Amino acid sequence: MQPPQSWTRDIEPLLTAPQLNERISEMGREITETFRDSPELVAVGILKGCFLFYADLVRHIDLPIKCEFIGISSYADATTSSGVVKISSDLKYSIEDKDVLIIEDIIDTGLTMSYLLNNFSTRKPRSLNVCTLLDKPERRVVPVPIEYTGFTIPDRFVVGYGLDLAGRYRNLPHIGVYHGET
Ligand code: IMP
Ligand code: MG
Repeated sequence: MQPPQSWTRDIEPLLTAPQLNERISEMGREITETFRDSPELVAVGILKGCFLFYADLVRHIDLPIKCEFIGISSYADATTSSGVVKISSDLKYSIEDKDVLIIEDIIDTGLTMSYLLNNFSTRKPRSLNVCTLLDKPERRVVPVPIEYTGFTIPDRFVVGYGLDLAGRYRNLPHIGVYHGET
């Protein structure tokens, strides 16, 4: 009998767990420095993709931040952007007069973040900044101001460390390029 093939066989490693860890601790230090005097910093994670990045990043922010999440989707089950953005679970609290840091897994076409920035700015935050683990600038269709970027990557579909393909691979501890069928 053939042994079962690994569930990661179609994934070519791109960023290892130690590389992620090192960069994320740097980002945390930088954010800590910038917001040292903030009266109230709220880190808003975009679910679900951000969940591992968010959990690791906030542990490197040495400030009394508030942790909030928003559910938003622009992808269905495919690997191309639909351009349709919808808030599936909104913030439970007002962000008026707060320093808001949006935490995202990846910025691709920019449609999701652009929608969210417009939406959030109507809520009158004290400041509004974007922090993304990955940036895929080649596919941008709308410009997005990004304050903190973990890694800039080429136009490849990546999975792992929170990023999924049709709901799978989020629990992979590293990030890899998906080469299988979609
Ligand atoms: P955008 O609106 O095109 O910038 O897409 C942003 C969202 O698309 C991200 O939050 C991801 O959920 C998803 N996405 C974009 N590129 C990838 C990828 O390479 N792998 C997995 N998800 C991706
Ligand atoms: Mg996402």
